[in-house]
Amino acid sequence: MRLDKFICTCTGLSRIQAKRVIGKGLVKVDGVIEKDQKVKINDQNEVVFDGRHLRFSGPRYIMLNKPDGAVCTSLDDDYRSVFDLFYDLERLEDLLIAGRLDADTTGLLLITDDGKWSHRITSPKKQCKKCYRVISAEAVPQDVVEQFANGIMLKGEKQPTLPAELEILSPTESLLTIHEGKYHQVKRMFGAINNRVVELHREQVGDIALDEDLEPGEWRYLTDEEIASVK
Ligand code: URA
Repeated sequence: MRLDKFICTCTGLSRIQAKRVIGKGLVKVDGVIEKDQKVKINDQNEVVFDGRHLRFSGPRYIMLNKPDGAVCTSLDDDYRSVFDLFYDLERLEDLLIAGRLDADTTGLLLITDDGKWSHRITSPKKQCKKCYRVISAEAVPQDVVEQFANGIMLKGEKQPTLPAELEILSPTESLLTIHEGKYHQVKRMFGAINNRVVELHREQVGDIALDEDLEPGEWRYLTDEEIASVK
């Protein structure tokens, strides 16, 4: 297979983007920079792009800094979808969101076409941690730390929430780490203590932290280390 086609297939980049990265000397074949997009690649060649070893048509793992106002579904005509941000990727329909966010929540969104990997993040059994920065309408009293650590009953639920860690940074700003993903969970937890979430931003999922270099709406592929951290 030609190198440019190989890059497209492995990364989801468009043909034009693949030609561009090859031309810029960002692709190495067997340890040597290769600028000829027509060179033929077989499964014995080691191809490295931007420090990543490319696997032939392997699964894709992406982190997005979700912007405010984008919905986590492709079927909404009234709002822009996070999938619009990946317009130049191939096989868009194969991508799954590993843990959705509300339209007005920003921050770390993980997206993949590896269903098993996604399941390890979203399965309630795995209790994968998610860390949110919360701006609340009212000041958060210190005793809420203990209430959240003990678990609280949310309206319409039969079981209390799992123990959650709350760190109060200022009267109306806190960091909340939860180990489950009930519908609107953070907003409902703050509702249960007679408060209201004004801004919600996800900073971390498991051991994967949002890359500070990503502006809202920007994304990048996960590193091999980040992918492997989801066990
Ligand atoms: N909890 C919420 O209430 N909303 C989100 O988007 C994520 C967690």
